[in-house]
Amino acid sequence: MKNISLALCCALLLCSCGKRIAKIETVDIVPLPASVQVSDGVFDLKKSTRICLLSDDSMLNYSVNLLNGLLDKSFGKPLAAVRADEPQAGAINIRLSDLAPEEYTLSVKPEGIDIAAGGPAGAFYAVETLRQLLPVAVARGERAGVIELPAVEIADKPFFAYRGGMLDVGRHFFDVDEVKTFIDILAMHKLNRFHWHLTEDQGWRIEIKKYPELMNTGAFRPCCSLAPDAQQPDSVPYGGYFTQDQVRDIVRYAGERFITVIPEIELPGHASAALASYQQLGCKGEGYGVENIWGVKENVYCAGKESTFEFLEDVLSEVVELFPSEYIHIGGDECPKTRWKECPYCQKRIREEKLKDEHELQSYFVQRMEKFLAGKGRRIIGWDEILEGGLSETATVMSWRGTEGGIAAAKMGNQVIMTPTTHCYLDYYPTKNTENEPQGIGGYLPARQVYSLDPYAGLNADEQKYILGVQGNLWTEFISEPDHAHYMLLPRLAAISEVGWSYDNEDRNYDDFKKRMTTLAERYDAAGYAYGKHMWTEDDAAQTAAQQQ
Ligand code: ACM
Ligand code: ZN
Repeated sequence: MKNISLALCCALLLCSCGKRIAKIETVDIVPLPASVQVSDGVFDLKKSTRICLLSDDSMLNYSVNLLNGLLDKSFGKPLAAVRADEPQAGAINIRLSDLAPEEYTLSVKPEGIDIAAGGPAGAFYAVETLRQLLPVAVARGERAGVIELPAVEIADKPFFAYRGGMLDVGRHFFDVDEVKTFIDILAMHKLNRFHWHLTEDQGWRIEIKKYPELMNTGAFRPCCSLAPDAQQPDSVPYGGYFTQDQVRDIVRYAGERFITVIPEIELPGHASAALASYQQLGCKGEGYGVENIWGVKENVYCAGKESTFEFLEDVLSEVVELFPSEYIHIGGDECPKTRWKECPYCQKRIREEKLKDEHELQSYFVQRMEKFLAGKGRRIIGWDEILEGGLSETATVMSWRGTEGGIAAAKMGNQVIMTPTTHCYLDYYPTKNTENEPQGIGGYLPARQVYSLDPYAGLNADEQKYILGVQGNLWTEFISEPDHAHYMLLPRLAAISEVGWSYDNEDRNYDDFKKRMTTLAERYDAAGYAYGKHMWTEDDAAQTAAQQQ
């Protein structure tokens, strides 16, 4: 009997679930934490290790879920999470302390792991950092009995409050699971805002109960996916939309990852899908269709008719019920004034409101929507065109046509999010050699250039206070597949994240980032995320060539 149990024990020790997975060789964390001190020794993480919650906050469960999601495949079961009054030896102890809400410390010692955070978000970020301390084999889901973690002391907090990623689901539709994967990628990079571009000329993507034609007509274009090659249109209707239940599910999913979803409902331009659904919303009142082809369209909402504002107020009333975000994005970009110049209703509005021109009419439009949203306790973000014709004192500007609009807005005392095409447009080609690349919209935006974004450039200390943060944008004219989306996002989103999180860290530099990214890229591989694998070497070659000139 004794011999049989001994044999069984040996067999268990030898089986793959008893395997010890060695600690990572170097501690490479992206974005760069404020301080990292590595020492000798390891903590042995086992399936019997307990997570001890020392503070009573149900949102700490999001950190428990994240950690268990990371370990699930290796251990085959979740770690037990318990409430405790005192830190426990050999456990992962998580407690809330008097740090800032997103700030944390993470201590890994042979005797145990201690996480202290100012709020549940900080604890979540500590676990995201812990993810990067796990051996890559664990990210690949290898079975383990013991996972070694390196002894390390980390202290960390984000520099910018707003660290965002935008996904355009108007040009190409990404379903609920695909949007959730986008959110997972934001969370992995400790980004905290998901800007969801929901309405476009080529498709209306959110259910509005009061206006069913937005879903019947506006959500579908007559033809076609158009990606990857816009030159070869097919004749297959293309589209889709998110039901309000699906929107709620996505908002909840993001919230569990400490990501606020900011919906964008475009106005007064990029409105063809809405006009196609309700023809009276346009100046002419007829002849509108959902657009098949990209570009800036002259058909925009009529700014003269009261019915336009009634429609948009109804739409926004449903939107604010779905999104708890303080900010609602109202677009404001690329609104040609051609129709307004010809429209008797718009011209009457200009006269009656004593406006100087159509630019002031746009400002009237945006400010009227801003007042409506303010009445619902919300604030607006608009693209930098909202500066034209007069900016309200309370609007937040998203600077995309360079940083100039953002600089002007900050000098006026308006809040700003920096997302210039020069550094943040992730639909641009990541390399110069585009022959074998997945299609980009054009341009050339290597990771090195993204990394060099300086959101404070051109601003004095007083003005810098108005810079809320940074954002990477993924427009999808030429991107219809998740793999393509991820390829364009990664690793450039990591560079945005490092600017957003570690802007003031004196040790931050691109070569070190690149070294740390080598390990993060292995984690992308493990997660199955496509990314620009060759980007680093080509980028180096370009840099060397530039230096030699
Ligand atoms: C934009 O890229 N049109 C904001
Ligand atoms: Zn009009």
